[in-house]
Amino acid sequence: MSAPNKSYDPVEVEALKPEEIERMQGEALAAFAAASSLDALHEAKVAHTGPASPLALANREIGALPPHAKAEAGKRVGMARGAVNKALAARQGELEAERDARVLVEEDVDVTLPHDRVPAGARHPLTTLSERIEDVFVAMGYEVAEGPEIEAEWFNFDALNIGPDHPARGEADTFFVEGPDGTGESGVVLRTHTSPVQIRSLLDRELPVYVICPGRVYRTDELDATHTPVFHQVELLAVDEGLTMADLKGTLDHMVQSLFGEDMKTRLRPNFFPFTEPSAEMDMVCYVCRGESVGNPDRPCRTCSSEGWIELGGCGMVNPRVLAACGVDPEKYSGFAFGFGIERMLMFRHNVEDMRDMVEGDVRFTRPFGMEI
Ligand code: DAH
Repeated sequence: MSAPNKSYDPVEVEALKPEEIERMQGEALAAFAAASSLDALHEAKVAHTGPASPLALANREIGALPPHAKAEAGKRVGMARGAVNKALAARQGELEAERDARVLVEEDVDVTLPHDRVPAGARHPLTTLSERIEDVFVAMGYEVAEGPEIEAEWFNFDALNIGPDHPARGEADTFFVEGPDGTGESGVVLRTHTSPVQIRSLLDRELPVYVICPGRVYRTDELDATHTPVFHQVELLAVDEGLTMADLKGTLDHMVQSLFGEDMKTRLRPNFFPFTEPSAEMDMVCYVCRGESVGNPDRPCRTCSSEGWIELGGCGMVNPRVLAACGVDPEKYSGFAFGFGIERMLMFRHNVEDMRDMVEGDVRFTRPFGMEI
């Protein structure tokens, strides 16, 4: 084993010569300056400050120097490494700042651009109103009942005491479904009202029956401002022991108060429907003028034509013949029913003047009703 080389001069060790150290430092600084991205700088960092870099290798040589030479060589290498690390940190800072500035431009979000070019859908105002009416009755314990839109004539007419000669059965109003041989003798129609759901409900359910039946109905009308061949009705049926016309009136008052305001009320006018006896036309106080336009030419009301009342639909006590057709004993049970059109209610509730607006699907009509979904 040889003795330590006492005369070991760091200047004589190639890697520790001042000009070598200077070259290494110069190369490192040049490499950092040339690095145009953070990735490139990382590579330069590994090459010039990593464990296999020239300066790290030179540093290792110091350990082998005699004690008197260590300090000077250590100082030289240490200063060079310090300068290299400082230059690295400075370049790192520059490149990060450049990247941040670029990201701000590239990932810029223009918050003034429209964000809602594809608007969310919303339910049609007819659906919303229909469900609001259902809610009033569901809260009172009624069930929502539905029936088919293509209906047997027996349900649509006969069971409702609408005999074969009744004008409502005429071709003027009813869409008849063609029979298999191309005739109108199928016995099937597009339902002309929601009243057949009364029959289906009585046949399907145990007594007492309390149902609210919303749905689409069909009549052979041309589409114009006040008619449409497809429209919606809501039917109500209550059959129980001891029901009277007072229950019908109270139920109607509750409905209009829930839908139009606390101080609303209804009135009944005698009328005729084959399926109710007695039958009535139901009106509600005009919710716009509250009756104040009557006899008051200074304050005319367009909603009720200054009549003070708005016609809602038909109602009455269920005809005992209808109860009997459904196997219900009219001696023991009685019932009340009503039915009205949703389009009409939407018209006077929201001042819609043309029914065609409700079917054309133009969002300019539905948008003011809000985005209830
Ligand atoms: N179904 C009748 C129509 O479409 C409306 C109606 C009247 C329904 C009286 C009823 C009622 O339940 O009792 O014109």
